[in-house]
Amino acid sequence: MSTFAIDNLAECDLDAALAIDLSSFAPSELGGSPSSARAVRETSLREEFARSWSTLRAARGHDGTVVGYSLFWQVVDEVHLLNVAVALPARRNGVGLALMNDLLRYARDHAIVRILLEARVGNVAAIALYERLGFKRFNVRPRYYADFEDACEMSLDL
Ligand SMILES: CC(C)(COP(=O)(O)OP(=O)(O)OC[C@H]1O[C@@H](n2cnc3c(N)ncnc32)[C@H](O)[C@@H]1OP(=O)(O)O)[C@@H](O)C(=O)NCCC(=O)NCCS
Repeated sequence: MSTFAIDNLAECDLDAALAIDLSSFAPSELGGSPSSARAVRETSLREEFARSWSTLRAARGHDGTVVGYSLFWQVVDEVHLLNVAVALPARRNGVGLALMNDLLRYARDHAIVRILLEARVGNVAAIALYERLGFKRFNVRPRYYADFEDACEMSLDL
């Protein structure tokens, strides 16, 4: 894929976002079991659409297909990145980077002073992406995830 555009993720994009999540994360990371993960994640994404402090952004291919999305919260002058995920066939094409640059634009436009996130310590791809943009690791939360993997907390001061 050579070109993509970024705009708001709409509720009609929910199935595409769910498919990306289900192929990107283990059921426990989505808050459910193998049989319940889809329903649990759907409920939680629907809640995000209803939250005034939540933003969902989509990266779309030339035909409008959602190939990746981001989800973040604005909390006063901070942004908390909750998710950025790219469909498997679209990875390593700059989609994740474009979604993160879109987040940085949002941050600049809203006078955000700090962006916070956490990632699995073993998530080499995500940590490399964040470090490329200047995020720094500032803490490790031991056994943070359901499978007891540690979380790496990262931040970017703007
Ligand atoms: C992390 C993720 C969003 C990256 O998306 P992507 O579109 O593949 O990333 P990009 O093509 O924009 O990569 C940008 C840079 O990030 C780094 N990067 C991305 N994937 C990488 C990998 N597998 N290994 C090492 N570095 C990687 C590289 O520096 C890359 O630049 P380069 O391709 O010029 O070397 C994607 O791997 C993904 O969806 N993972 C599953 C979901 C997830 O774990 N999300 C993060 C939750 S904390």
